[in-house]
Amino acid sequence: MATPTRPGNYREQAKTYDLTRGASPTIVRAVAEHLGEPRGRTLLDIAGGTGNYAQVFATRGFRVTVVDAQLAMLEHSARKLGGGHAVAGAAAHLPFSDGSFDCATLVHAVHLLQDPSPALREAHRVLREGPLVAVDPTRENAPLFVHEYFGLHPPDDARPSAEDIALLLRRAGFATVEHHPFVYTDTADGSLHALHTNALHLAGPAYLRNTSFWYGLDEEARRAGLDALARDLRSGRLEERVRAHYLEAAVRGHETVFAAWP
Ligand SMILES: C[S@@+](CC[C@H](N)C(=O)[O-])C[C@H]1O[C@@H](n2cnc3c(N)ncnc32)[C@H](O)[C@@H]1O
Repeated sequence: MATPTRPGNYREQAKTYDLTRGASPTIVRAVAEHLGEPRGRTLLDIAGGTGNYAQVFATRGFRVTVVDAQLAMLEHSARKLGGGHAVAGAAAHLPFSDGSFDCATLVHAVHLLQDPSPALREAHRVLREGPLVAVDPTRENAPLFVHEYFGLHPPDDARPSAEDIALLLRRAGFATVEHHPFVYTDTADGSLHALHTNALHLAGPAYLRNTSFWYGLDEEARRAGLDALARDLRSGRLEERVRAHYLEAAVRGHETVFAAWP
């Protein structure tokens, strides 16, 4: 049986990730609202990558551990958080005993998991009072138009709905689940959704190369897409599309934040 491939190539991305991707104040705000006061509580950042969000929450007073499946990404976390705070492990098999952490975060990773259920069950298992705060795009959020430049037309139902994810969280054992859309006010995260707020960044090869989207494209599609984006950037059309997308996102959100309590 063929091994299912994980979207993205984080061994490769680890080399450049932090050049275009950091902790977005928009996401920090949305997550912090649910995490509440640090009060020295322990926080597990699941699929925490290079530790950008973990570093912010550690600075705020949480005792943070990052777990991630990709060692090359984790090396950056270890550098930022210090030894013992970066642990190798898959979200579906967390290397921690039951109730080891007070709360947890899961930023931009649900869409990378072929079946998020085992990871959500594991998050529930290792938590005490919670919450688990997850951030990801859902079907309700403004659809991305950059795909068109690369000859892709994902169907409307390519993403799960917010209620689909809320249901998975409840089935994983979480008793209370809340979710709401949010709008990016910055591009600091460098995710494809954040890049849709800035035409110059959206057309920037260095930014796009640091997204898992890029790794799903072949060379020919990449070249043609970058050329088309550059053309529309020069003509001003890309700026117009970014503005129209922002208006849509103001209603539908760019992404959605979920907070779940055991
Ligand atoms: C888009 S990055 C997000 C990193 C971090 N949460 C952030 O927002 O900066 C996705 C991360 O998920 C990790 N990842 C993907 N699948 C995983 C899995 N099954 N278990 C643990 N980590 C995983 C990747 O290695 C990568 O570091």
